[in-house]
Amino acid sequence: MTILETERLRLREMADSDLDQMAALLGDPEVMRYYLAPKSRDEAQRWIDWNKRNYAEHGFGLWVVESIEGDFVGDCGLTWQTVDGAREVEVGYHVRRSAQDNGYATEAATACVQFARQRGIERLVAIINPANVASQRVAVKIGLKLEKRVTTNGFEQVVYAAII
Ligand SMILES: CC(C)(COP(=O)(O)OP(=O)(O)OC[C@H]1O[C@@H](n2cnc3c(N)ncnc32)[C@H](O)[C@@H]1OP(=O)(O)O)[C@@H](O)C(=O)NCCC(=O)NCCS
Repeated sequence: MTILETERLRLREMADSDLDQMAALLGDPEVMRYYLAPKSRDEAQRWIDWNKRNYAEHGFGLWVVESIEGDFVGDCGLTWQTVDGAREVEVGYHVRRSAQDNGYATEAATACVQFARQRGIERLVAIINPANVASQRVAVKIGLKLEKRVTTNGFEQVVYAAII
């Protein structure tokens, strides 16, 4: 099911049939370099399952991003997270290595901000590893500002946020 369209991209619900592409994306050590470890195929399936639950329970989740022509780009969307004990909606994004630096994450995440606004979500955050400069650039380009540093499970993270 298509959720959002932009000039170059389509965001649609993730399905079990996306497992090969999602496992390649989340199993890429470069894409996952700011995470604890790349994800196995089983973990990629659990990622898909988690997002299917997100769609059913909240009406949003991380969606597959593909070009209008149908080429897989990555994922992007909205998920509930707990930050400093508070429930927050996070905008998240992962772009396959060969598609990075084309403005795709910014374009997809901008559409997600509009989606959130239309759904009455008042505040968005992005929780980012301080060394992840590209992700912080995307956060800034979609209108989020550095708000605070938090420590989650012993790892320092920066929180970008905005009232939308
Ligand atoms: C973060 C990520 C999604 C960005 O995707 P993208 O489609 O390449 O993003 P965009 O092209 O819209 O913008 C990237 C910006 O980061 C900048 N950038 C990219 N790599 C960079 C680096 N190593 N150092 C500094 N800036 C960098 C680009 O120049 C661009 O900024 P600009 O428009 O001001 O020039 C992508 O790098 C990715 O998938 N990373 C791994 C997964 C990840 O970390 N996700 C976020 C978790 S919080």
